[in-house]
Amino acid sequence: MTESYLLGIDLSTTTAKALLTDTAGRVLGVGSTRLNLSTPRPLWSEQDPQEWWQGAAASIRQVLEETGVDPAHIAAVGLTGQMHGLVLLGAEGQVLRPAILWNDQRTAAECNQIRERIGKERLIQITGNDALTGFTAPKILWVQNNEPEVFAQARHVLLPKDYIRYRLTGEYAMDKADGSGTILFDLKARQWSSEVLAALGLPAEWFPPTFEGPEFTGRITPEAAALTGLRAGTPVAAGGGDQAAQAVGVGAVQPGVIALTVGTSGVVFAATPQAWVEPQGRLHAFCHAAPGLWHLMGVMLSAAGSLQWYHDTLAPDMSFESLLEEAAAVPAGSEGLQFLPYLSGERTPHPDPLARGAFIGMTLRHTRGHLTRAVLEGVSFGLKDSFELIRAAGLGQIHQVRASGGGTKGALWRQILADVLETELVEVNTSEGGAFGAALLAGVGAGFWPDVQAACDATIQLTRRTPPNPANFDAYRESYAVFKSLYPSLKPAFARMSSR
Ligand code: XUL
Repeated sequence: MTESYLLGIDLSTTTAKALLTDTAGRVLGVGSTRLNLSTPRPLWSEQDPQEWWQGAAASIRQVLEETGVDPAHIAAVGLTGQMHGLVLLGAEGQVLRPAILWNDQRTAAECNQIRERIGKERLIQITGNDALTGFTAPKILWVQNNEPEVFAQARHVLLPKDYIRYRLTGEYAMDKADGSGTILFDLKARQWSSEVLAALGLPAEWFPPTFEGPEFTGRITPEAAALTGLRAGTPVAAGGGDQAAQAVGVGAVQPGVIALTVGTSGVVFAATPQAWVEPQGRLHAFCHAAPGLWHLMGVMLSAAGSLQWYHDTLAPDMSFESLLEEAAAVPAGSEGLQFLPYLSGERTPHPDPLARGAFIGMTLRHTRGHLTRAVLEGVSFGLKDSFELIRAAGLGQIHQVRASGGGTKGALWRQILADVLETELVEVNTSEGGAFGAALLAGVGAGFWPDVQAACDATIQLTRRTPPNPANFDAYRESYAVFKSLYPSLKPAFARMSSR
């Protein structure tokens, strides 16, 4: 029998990646192209959709070349990528302005406008979420308020990876996980909310049909085939926003299994059997890429990013290993030293673009090892905030926490996380979470597995386990209590600092 392959494309903020796997889950290769980020003003964050497309096409060509796989044997393509970014297209599908990304913070006024027009409570009831600067809806209103000539030409709204889909297939389409991240979505109904669209005065016809993760949304066009090397006619599955696809890629596709990702940002992702919502909107509530599931999610903006910043700023000449060795010699709780990880503002549990990072409680006794350990602990406490909200949302028993991302690779931080969260961490054999998840979704669409759970069971194995050490629980509980008291006391000061 001829072997069949699946292609997962992941458009992150830094890279356009193309991953080829076989149907046993063996990754044959990954093509990857770096992407540029533009910050034309403070708080702004933009990218050029044309560059995304060129990057994605180059990565596809690269993986095909390097693996030598015959494109005729690729059964389906799945897409994933950075969520929430606004891609505005005109009547002919032309890009009208650079995409405004998930980490862009220009839309505080528009978030207020949305709350005023819909009411915060009603907004959370319908969409599962409060209006946050990162989400898509306020970005559309920002263009309306600030670039009326661009807004007047707009005919189509897409999210970043769906622009790649448009170039691959010629179709305007989106998956439901990413759709719900626009906050223009009726979370329970898994479709656009006519009430929210009407309240914001946005024409329904600008928004494409939405699909469940494994559903096919179109086929590779001859033009795209010529540019990428793929076979014309290859089906393209809906896929999912990066966090939902990452959860599929580590097998977090049932309630009780949490995906903990400690990358630049930190994410705690919990699948839910219904459209559960955190009443104050402190957790995000979106559709899962697995049909019939939703998820709650806490997002911390600077997780391993905090350690990276700390290293680059304060100890650029040291290796991470030496820094972490020093930190390992310091007792749990860093002898009272605390770090607040809000270096780029925060989302969960404090949706505050003005929040700042801080070291608090330094004495002459504290060494660099204490500072380093405080960073690891502060980020872990921030992630615990999301765990606590997820527990409080009534999710029931958390059976398993599947940990991934650069921050979980080292033994010290993994142990601190297990001890702070008071739970065992398990890792899995897949390392390219999002792109792999997108490939699995495509494989379900192509009929290799009956559903997403079966796809995960067939391809994902548990590897290393990190049990918590109860001897550290008391020290961390005490430190966490202090940590929790710090942001509320400092919030007014952070707000004043931002005006300077
Ligand atoms: C999720 C989120 C990020 C971006 C970029 O809500 O904002 O995961 O998708 O990775």
